Amino acid sequence: MINHDTIDNIVQTARIEEVIGDFVMLRRRGVNQIGLCPFHNEKTPSFTVSPAKGIYKCFGCGKAGNSVNFIMEHEHFTYPEALKYLARKYNIEVEEEEQTPEQLLEISEKESLLNLNLFAQQYFSKTLLESEEGKAIGLSYFRERGLREDIVLKFQLGFSPEKWDAFSSYAVQQGYKKEYLVKTGISIEKENRLYDRFHGRVMFPIHSASGRVIGFGGRILGSDKSHAKYVNSPESEIYNKSKTLYGIYFAKNAIISKDSCLLVEGYTDVISMYQAGIENVVASSGTSLTADQIRMIQRYTSNISILYDGDPAGIKASFRGIDMIVEQGMNVKILLFPDGEDPDSYARKHHPGEVESFIAANSVNFILFKTRLLLGETQNDPIKKAGLIKEIVNTISLIPDAISRSLYVKECSNLMAISEQVLMSELNKILRAKLKKSSPDAERELEAVPPEDITAEPQLDMDLDSPEYQEKEVIRMLLLYGHETIPIRLNPGDEEEVPVGVADYVVHDITHDEMEFENPLFKAIFDEYIRGIENDATPDRTHFLAHPDQEISSLAVNLVFTPYELSENWLKNSIMVTTEETRLQMHVMLALHAFKARKLDRKMTETRRKLADATSREEQDELMRTFHQLKKLSIQINTEGLGRIITR
Ligand code: CTP
Ligand code: MN
Repeated sequence: MINHDTIDNIVQTARIEEVIGDFVMLRRRGVNQIGLCPFHNEKTPSFTVSPAKGIYKCFGCGKAGNSVNFIMEHEHFTYPEALKYLARKYNIEVEEEEQTPEQLLEISEKESLLNLNLFAQQYFSKTLLESEEGKAIGLSYFRERGLREDIVLKFQLGFSPEKWDAFSSYAVQQGYKKEYLVKTGISIEKENRLYDRFHGRVMFPIHSASGRVIGFGGRILGSDKSHAKYVNSPESEIYNKSKTLYGIYFAKNAIISKDSCLLVEGYTDVISMYQAGIENVVASSGTSLTADQIRMIQRYTSNISILYDGDPAGIKASFRGIDMIVEQGMNVKILLFPDGEDPDSYARKHHPGEVESFIAANSVNFILFKTRLLLGETQNDPIKKAGLIKEIVNTISLIPDAISRSLYVKECSNLMAISEQVLMSELNKILRAKLKKSSPDAERELEAVPPEDITAEPQLDMDLDSPEYQEKEVIRMLLLYGHETIPIRLNPGDEEEVPVGVADYVVHDITHDEMEFENPLFKAIFDEYIRGIENDATPDRTHFLAHPDQEISSLAVNLVFTPYELSENWLKNSIMVTTEETRLQMHVMLALHAFKARKLDRKMTETRRKLADATSREEQDELMRTFHQLKKLSIQINTEGLGRIITR
């Protein structure tokens, strides 16, 4: 954990226009700066940076945040990674929060393993590029495979000398602990001696998404069948094979900009494709894709193309695994290479442009691919065909989105020459069975939508009368003006008004009337104000703009960025407003009154409904009393001061 002061320091020091300026060309426009949005494709700039507020917002795609969010979003860093990035940029020393001894041990162990891996990677690269043995054996091997030097450097390829303990002894001599050499798996301990696991192999470092070396693959030279072709780092605290995708660090930006990820089998496939200019490519390293790996890709795109070399039998074997990807809501395409070719060999034999157009022309949607492949095998045998229908409908039923399901039903019905109704009713059967197992309520939701309904757009506009809207206004006041003061008469009879902090006033007023926020995000923010005020440390806007909870920070940014919606003109024209201060007072009162009036209104409606259902006399009396109290309160807040902000 990075400590609080450090975070504040980083957030305050980082200048948004400088941070973003490293990635986006910005031009001044009025008080803001604008540029082309890095998160979506656009020709005219709608990406706006406000140096004064320290935030950015794209009015095209809606992405918004502060410096930290920008780095997280753009570089796909976690929150602490983004903070550390900014700390490095501004030479801020990062102080970590005090940790328990166990935590400290764990962190320092992880760091030690990562450090050692970095040291090893540098050693292997240097050996490859500078030693006689490395150049003669390793580098010439890579050259023979057609790899350019810039690619060898980019992927930090290396060579581990033939000598049994070359690296282990060097590392020990340089002060690296035996314990970590063994834990990373770079060394193997036998009879109290260390041996190099990868000796005599060319080295492929495996990077995490943020670019740290977490493991290695080492390939033997040539095709000696008595040894495994690849040796890989064993699982460790830093290397978990099922959560790793080879190449993700180099591919992630291309995956985002192309909104698609190519999945291949091996290290060399990734590297050759990359060399051919196709950079959105990762490898699962010889195993079938795991749920964690899918989730990792899903952070960047929901389109995945699986590149296969060769035979249908192998592909059929992987159908189950692909179903899992479909279930995650991803669009899966399949690409078959011609017999005897894999992505590596194909990319080496063809021009980059050809590879690209081959992929574009030959990728087939998985469900259609599966239908066609299986259809070819049924040979019009009705029993086999019935099995095929079940199989395909089963896969379709995994798609989380009802509209997509309906589209596939349509397409597959064409392909298989079976009526849509038959497939649809088969599909609904499966969906219902699934629902019985999970929640009975959700049944209607999952029902397949008929294709005609696809054009119906969801209604997104916020209803001005909704409780959400009133709650939002209160939170907006807090974020924008929480630290300013407004003149308040402390008691009804007081002559004099005293300056009171807006946040103090709003929080006291709402908690005094025991009103609650319904929207969980607004509630979370409000609760932080309550806690802050209790501890005499009212949180400020920056705190929420840089909030570790992404949902909160992006909400804060959006609230702060949009201009006040109840127009200032309305206030100016309808009420005699003399000073800034009283105008702010009006804003705050307006928001508070609307909020309370709306809550009361809802409570009254609810009470009325209960009253209608109440059976016993006592119950009715009790509810009547409640209702009158609410009514009184409602009249009171609607007449007091601002007579005209009654909602209903
Ligand atoms: N693999 C492995 N151990 C093996 C064989 C394969 O870990 N003994 C993994 C590697 O990650 C490898 C991937 O499975 O990259 C695919 O295997 P393969 O196609 O045999 O390797 P290629 O990457 O194609 O290697 P090369 O082209 O050098 O033969
Ligand atoms: Mn290969």
